[in-house]
Amino acid sequence: MEQFVIKGGTSLRGEVEIGGAKNAALAILAASIMTDETVTIDNLPDVRDINVLIGAMEDIGAIVDRVDRHTVKINGSRIQRLSVDYEYIKKIRASYYLLGALLGKYKKAEVALPGGCEIGSRPIDLHIKGFKALGADVDISYGLISAKAVRLEGSHIYMDKVSVGATINVMMAAALAEGKTVIENAAKEPHVVDVANFLNSMGANIRGAGTDVIRIVGVEKLHKTEYSVIPDQIEAGTFMCAAAVTGGDVLIKNVIPKHLEATTAKLLEAGCKVEEYDDAVRVFGGGELKSTQVTTLPYPGFPTDMQPQMTVVLGIAQGTSTVTESIFENRFKYVDELSRMGANIQVEGNIAIIRGVERYTGARVCAPDLRAGAALVVAGLAADGVTVVDDIYYIQRGYENLEGKLRQLGAQIEKVSSEKEIQKFVLKVS
Ligand code: EPZ
Repeated sequence: MEQFVIKGGTSLRGEVEIGGAKNAALAILAASIMTDETVTIDNLPDVRDINVLIGAMEDIGAIVDRVDRHTVKINGSRIQRLSVDYEYIKKIRASYYLLGALLGKYKKAEVALPGGCEIGSRPIDLHIKGFKALGADVDISYGLISAKAVRLEGSHIYMDKVSVGATINVMMAAALAEGKTVIENAAKEPHVVDVANFLNSMGANIRGAGTDVIRIVGVEKLHKTEYSVIPDQIEAGTFMCAAAVTGGDVLIKNVIPKHLEATTAKLLEAGCKVEEYDDAVRVFGGGELKSTQVTTLPYPGFPTDMQPQMTVVLGIAQGTSTVTESIFENRFKYVDELSRMGANIQVEGNIAIIRGVERYTGARVCAPDLRAGAALVVAGLAADGVTVVDDIYYIQRGYENLEGKLRQLGAQIEKVSSEKEIQKFVLKVS
């Protein structure tokens, strides 16, 4: 298994380019098969989750032309299978976006039922509620979700909880339903807006994405388009936290500052300086980090996907901070690993009470999930000594060339796959 090995203590300085948003790209890729014409998508992040979903799409018969690492041409005219194998959903839950896309286009779809994951049980009852409201029969048996409809008819759907996935999945199916659909209590994340913009560029009629009421008027069919995915707000936020904990000065380029507002606000409260430009933000240390309070909420609240990284920043801030995780029920597993690096954090239910310590110390830790893995790398950058992060498979699901981008900013980090290479790195940096 590959690992990251990091020698902490270097203040990050310089510029870093942010890639396309994984969570927008996954849904956009799935939606691209909703037309029989060819769709070109660029600014895709070259990460594991994207490549797994593309594999799932090829498996059901979509024709995929990898123009380059960040650009694909997709044609969904020859799809023969409407059933997505468990092997894909096991690797990435977002394969379930093919349910909304296939149901919308073919009025039939079958996808393996996604199980829970490292951060929570991750039910999909709201996806199913939406499909049923549109007139689909949905059956769950033998670990499969099968949805089919003679016709899909617009409906008025109220989301009991704000759900990014359910909002996007239902929006896709409704795009080709007959008549008008209203989604109330819709998720407002930038990637929901990006998927709506993508579908509209294919001829869909979707209004209100980005607000909590999305109105969709179904159309007969969708057509070709060329589309560029928005920048990844979570990758950007992760680099903002890396600059903060190392007392560095980093210009994070190719971002939409508005999407980073909650992270910016909390880093400012924690004593950092942040300058916003048209498509970049600069984060530079303001000396001692200060404690603050964070609660994760649906957008535009503080993103749950930034919760571990922000906890790492507050773990070496002066005073006592709290982080409340209100979205997922099990997203503090990484705290045990962070404690092995010297953090002083107590988790009481969905609240982490963080008593700031002087500094982290390097240790051997394991990434329990994608964002927590990235957070442990951030902690290693600030730690005294050498940190080895195992199970970086998780991190590679959502971060393209993280180690290369960090090295460009002066970090001493390498990707290794043996004890020998770790020893070699330790000798080199000592
Ligand atoms: C998306 O997951 C993201 N994944 C997650 O990012 C992100 O953490 C999450 O949105 C919240 O922003 C992708 O976009 C691929 P939800 P999703 O439906 O859509 C409950 C990452 O690190 N819920 O908004 O699955 C659910 O249990 C990943 O990139 C239901 O109860 O999240 C949770 O408590 C991790 N029933 C809350 O809603 C449902 O039918 C929000 O989940 C659906 C969700």
